[in-house]
Amino acid sequence: MAQPAPSPDPSPADHVIVLVGATGDLARRKLLPGLFHLATAGLMPRQYRIVGSAPAAEALSDEDFRAHARQAVAEFGRARPEGPAWRQFEAALTFGAADPGASQPLVTAVHEAERALGGSPRRLVHLAVPPVAFTSVIGLLGASGLADDARVIVEKPFGTDLASARALNAAIHAVFDESRVFRIDHFLGKEAVDNILALRFANGLFEPLWNREHISHVQIDVPEQIDIQGRAHFFEGTGTFRDMVVTHLFQLLGFVAMEPPVALEAQSLRDEQAKVFHSMRPVDPARVVRGQYAGYRGEPGVDPASDTETFIALEVEIDNWRWAGVPFQLRTGKALAEGRHVVTLGLREPVLRMFPLDARAAVDGRPNELVVDFADPGSLTARFLVKEPGPAMQLEEAAMTFGYRGSFAAENSLEGYEHLLLEAMLGDQSLFTRSDGIERLWEVAAPLLDAPPPVEAYAPGSWGPAGIDALVAPYRWHLPDGR
Ligand code: BG6
Repeated sequence: MAQPAPSPDPSPADHVIVLVGATGDLARRKLLPGLFHLATAGLMPRQYRIVGSAPAAEALSDEDFRAHARQAVAEFGRARPEGPAWRQFEAALTFGAADPGASQPLVTAVHEAERALGGSPRRLVHLAVPPVAFTSVIGLLGASGLADDARVIVEKPFGTDLASARALNAAIHAVFDESRVFRIDHFLGKEAVDNILALRFANGLFEPLWNREHISHVQIDVPEQIDIQGRAHFFEGTGTFRDMVVTHLFQLLGFVAMEPPVALEAQSLRDEQAKVFHSMRPVDPARVVRGQYAGYRGEPGVDPASDTETFIALEVEIDNWRWAGVPFQLRTGKALAEGRHVVTLGLREPVLRMFPLDARAAVDGRPNELVVDFADPGSLTARFLVKEPGPAMQLEEAAMTFGYRGSFAAENSLEGYEHLLLEAMLGDQSLFTRSDGIERLWEVAAPLLDAPPPVEAYAPGSWGPAGIDALVAPYRWHLPDGR
């Protein structure tokens, strides 16, 4: 029998973290504030150094890098950059510029940092660079020796189609073997993703229901209220399917749909996730609605005739014994009515309709549901029918909700990025995507990429184009509060 996986050591070994792209947006918004929060939470290694890097044209002195980090933490962090905690963190920051063929300043800075720590600290390189720079930076890490024994965190996009994903993986594998590669998808760092595993595999209450016998359909719904926020350059070439579905929504689907893993450890979890992706049918463009919010074409930098989608709803199927015939309905988009992160499992109706029709009138068509809201701090709701008090046999909807807010030590929770940075330092790949999984997803996506249906307009502030209701009939998109 498989032994339970040992619980991970919460304290990583001593580390030198190399932040390539340290002057960029991601480092400013997420990585520097995230690392500081880990430090204040006592989750950083006992000894660590963070070496920022950027091309020589954007090089900073150590002093300037510290000021840059302080500003980033003040603007985007949860903890204020002050007091002894900040001074200790700041002292760990240094900078080394690097360009292909001219990486000496970075190499020197990394070796100095390693010497300062003593012993043999681990090296973790975080590649927060735009896709165009990716291959040359990987080459630089290989040529300079910085990749030796190092782990690497790779940011999305993991390609834009099957051919580019394969080329990217080949470039990575020329320098790093897969066991040292951490493809980061911040959705998988959200607390509720671990909680899906806990719900399913720690409870006799849920797992028996988690299959086609009991579940009629599954929805993964991530509407966003924000529009493209001036990111026309990025968005025009990407669109919602590549930005959100291939990465975040399909990754979540892998966790929701997987078979019980042999053990709760990286290889077993990633094997089961990959099996789900291999069981997915190729996306049928006839089961896809692409949308674009009215006004998008007028935004600065957007082609006035743009066909890029800012919204997508699609139905996919998983051809295996557990899920055959159960539609997985996915929706996400910008400029929608509300921002939400919700997985809904719709349960089948009882085989016998024993309640009189008028007793059911108010609630007909609304199945029992399990709703996992994975917006931080997250909640789990079970929706079912009860009898309304009174002489008549009248049914009403009821709900039982567990909310993370106010439960346990909610203040201990980590944001997606923070959680994943910690996991990468611990060397645990459970929540990171593997190359075969990502390549399979691009294979599944190919029919849609080859023949996308035209975009349909939708009003900002709505729930998307009209066509999405027909897409999921006879089911309905799950709306807030069971609406
Ligand atoms: C990013 C996408 O990966 O995820 C953005 O590039 C999107 O377009 C964001 O807004 C959503 O993340 P979250 O955690 O705010 O839901």
